[in-house]
Amino acid sequence: MAQHFVMLGPPGAGKGTQAKILSEKMGIPHISSGDLFRENLREKTDLGKLAEGYINRGELVPDDVTIRMVQERISRSDCQAGVLLDGFPRTVYQAEALDEILRDQKNTQVDAVPCIIVADDVLVERLSGRRSCQNGHVFHVKFNPPKVDGICDVDGTELYQREDDTVETVSRRIRVYLDQTQPLIDYYRQKGVLVEIDGAQAIDAVSEALFAAIAKM
Ligand code: AP5
Repeated sequence: MAQHFVMLGPPGAGKGTQAKILSEKMGIPHISSGDLFRENLREKTDLGKLAEGYINRGELVPDDVTIRMVQERISRSDCQAGVLLDGFPRTVYQAEALDEILRDQKNTQVDAVPCIIVADDVLVERLSGRRSCQNGHVFHVKFNPPKVDGICDVDGTELYQREDDTVETVSRRIRVYLDQTQPLIDYYRQKGVLVEIDGAQAIDAVSEALFAAIAKM
């Protein structure tokens, strides 16, 4: 079965939610570029300081720093058997860089690209109700509530609302997705690795559809 995945889809489509489920099931690491940036923001690293403005405005962080950050993460030993990328690549330039990294570091390529499709109005509702913990576990006040209000089920840390989940910034992020990331759908379709998944179903149903689709690849 495929081992090198890229999760595609607009902000709030459920990439992170599904990536966590899939990575546990398959025993390969889930690498979220957004989580890596937020970790750097919390630790106030130089990279975090550079990325902060872009993230809070809903814009993309420049390609070169993003590629360097993900390349370093992929080069670690836990990624030998495979990797599930979420939020990267986001531009054609990043996708070409990823092809090169996988070829040079691992003599392999992207095997499957599940693209989660969800309508724009649903995205806004999902993101405005999202609550996350600092370790990247994600909940929703209505669709996937934690057992104890405001506390992560997995690690007991406090849940918070992301600063870029305001209605205004979400609209900006959706526009940026349409302009800069949507072209990747054609990029991966031409390579024969794209699978479209209906993300408007309940979380479990999306997981089932996703797993069934990639099992065939
Ligand atoms: P990032 O963190 O990657 O944000 P995103 O792509 O906008 O994706 P999200 O995390 O918002 O959504 P998701 O699809 O993972 O949805 P989730 O599963 O949480 O990036 C943030 C920023 O970092 C970017 O704007 C950019 O500035 C920067 N950045 C990151 N990567 C970059 C790159 N490669 N290049 C340049 N800049 C980069 O689900 C959302 C909510 O819906 C949750 O509450 C969840 O519980 C709920 N939910 C999920 N599935 C369902 C369902 N089926 N039914 C009902 N509710 C559901």
